Amino acid sequence: MGLSLAHKIIHSHLVEGSMEPGKEIALRVDQTLTQDATGTMAWLQFEALGLARVKTELSITYVDHNTLQTGFENADDHRFLQDMTAKFGAYYSRPGNGICHQLHLERFGKPGKTLLGADSHTPTCGALGMLAIGVGGLDVALAMGGVPFSLVMPKVINVQLHGRLAPGVSAKDVILEVLRRLSTKGGLRAVLEYSGDGLQYLSVPERATITNMGAETGATASIFPSDEKTREFLAAQGRESDWCSLGPDADAHYDQVMEISLGDLSPLVACPHSPDQVKEVTELAGMPVDQVVIGSCTNSSYLDLVKVARIFQGGKVSPGVSLVLAPGSKQVLTMISEHGYLGDMLRAGARILECTCGPCIGMGQSPPSAGVSLRTNNRNFKGRSGTADAQVYLVSPETAAASALEGKLTDPRKYGDILHLSMPEKFMVDDGMVIPPQPAGSSGEVRRGPNIKPLPLKSELPAKVEGEVLIKVGDHITTDHIMPAGAKILPLRSNIPAISRHVFGSLDPTFAERALTAGGGFIVGGENYGQGSSREHAALAPMYLGIWAVLAKSIARIHFDNLINFGIVPLFFACQNDYEVLAQGDRIALPTLRADIEAGRELTRAVRLATGKELEMRLELSQRQRVILLSGGSINWVRLKNKEQ
Ligand code: F3S
Repeated sequence: MGLSLAHKIIHSHLVEGSMEPGKEIALRVDQTLTQDATGTMAWLQFEALGLARVKTELSITYVDHNTLQTGFENADDHRFLQDMTAKFGAYYSRPGNGICHQLHLERFGKPGKTLLGADSHTPTCGALGMLAIGVGGLDVALAMGGVPFSLVMPKVINVQLHGRLAPGVSAKDVILEVLRRLSTKGGLRAVLEYSGDGLQYLSVPERATITNMGAETGATASIFPSDEKTREFLAAQGRESDWCSLGPDADAHYDQVMEISLGDLSPLVACPHSPDQVKEVTELAGMPVDQVVIGSCTNSSYLDLVKVARIFQGGKVSPGVSLVLAPGSKQVLTMISEHGYLGDMLRAGARILECTCGPCIGMGQSPPSAGVSLRTNNRNFKGRSGTADAQVYLVSPETAAASALEGKLTDPRKYGDILHLSMPEKFMVDDGMVIPPQPAGSSGEVRRGPNIKPLPLKSELPAKVEGEVLIKVGDHITTDHIMPAGAKILPLRSNIPAISRHVFGSLDPTFAERALTAGGGFIVGGENYGQGSSREHAALAPMYLGIWAVLAKSIARIHFDNLINFGIVPLFFACQNDYEVLAQGDRIALPTLRADIEAGRELTRAVRLATGKELEMRLELSQRQRVILLSGGSINWVRLKNKEQ
């Protein structure tokens, strides 16, 4: 039986394990990326490993998240990242150069390679035919140190795209359709592999919109074959030599198949507050709009913005709408400027932001109270925009632009005739804002600002743990709930004692204080606990506060791995109804936790001390994960291993 493309890349990078879905495997990592929100900590973690140089083919840190400099913290972090990358052999992309995924697609991604990124939208580069996976910063730090990346062998879902999109219907609508069908859980422990005759009409940037938002289905990665469209894109970036032809075998086996007829799709919109709450634009057409945001790593490519400019040509943004626009990279900004499209945008009344994540991460441009904001981003979780009661809808750039002109949600197919575009033959390439590493052996000074505090480490897992249920939360708690972001909190990311004061801040502002007073304890969660992003601070800060374990109905994949990395034991209720037994404030004990992990058992007991009621908890752990938890987290584990060698 033939292999899928995902299987081929996994096979060629397999270091440990066999390719059976559900079993743990380890892969060699060719490339890594970090961004500044995760990178400062990842570099502190890499430093803690005690190595002289990164061991990957290519590692790069992009500064794109926290570029606002309202205090010294972000500026200090940027300087620290520049020094660390130079010293340890990685590239550094300066603030203003663009958003990590857009830039990696343009300048560094290569078909057939593996990419591990400390950002949940790292799968974007699957558009180039690479296996690109988003993880926590610690996994990237370990990969930079040459440690193979361990994961559960995913199943492979084949998404067959047939036919051609109608003008005004776009790649964003394709991935919204996938989300409508799969929901935010349907891609868990799976790779979405695209094929079909429809691929011949989808350029790499369009494919990248689809792979980018595959992350919202919970998928490990999304991947397109490397074909003639890929060659065209890489050639236009002056990188044709990076191209090779790669695809599945003709008789490839897939675990599941989904078919989408592109010609039948119409413009779609993801309603508040989840990317899978998808409706047709026509169902909501006419809804008044207060703000339109065009940009983010999902939809800020040159082609996206040219479509926007064409819709704007000769028109004016409705007086009731604030329109902000952030190009994905300096290359995109330069090209829309040189080709006259920037003028169209400015004349229409757009406010142009710098080439960064900006509003997507809540860095400015929050909507007005209870405002309706249409965004081309990938996420619309409640409060992420910075306005707690804002209603954020996710749409294509075409829908966003048409709606900005009309002041209400508008079907962009009325502009269909002007939206026929083809890839430029040459992109304007200028890597002047990427600083290459210093040669091996150069002695680089690393400057650390006062906000960069030493990395806290956990102690080994004791024989027995006991404490209080410090919080009980419901289903679909996101990493934004656990560790909020925003302009006030993100600058504290390299200062764990300070940032940990904000854990669960939007749900219970007393949480951090209570955890510290109690000397730690437990978190009880519902379904899909920790969904949403690779934010490792959602595990690292609770670790600092003394959390021993999370007891949940289910836990999102990246967060599950992050908990283990930081020595917090993820436990699942063997009987889902037992979730109801526990309440905030209950004292519980896990009397045999260490022994059960050591012995490889799949169950342990949690005892509710007030009543003596025993709850069975499942331990879904590989042998490697067990050793990491016993050591008190991954850094302790690698240090111990290095000592033993
Ligand atoms: Fe940045 Fe938003 Fe993408 S924070 S990396 S633009 S999901």
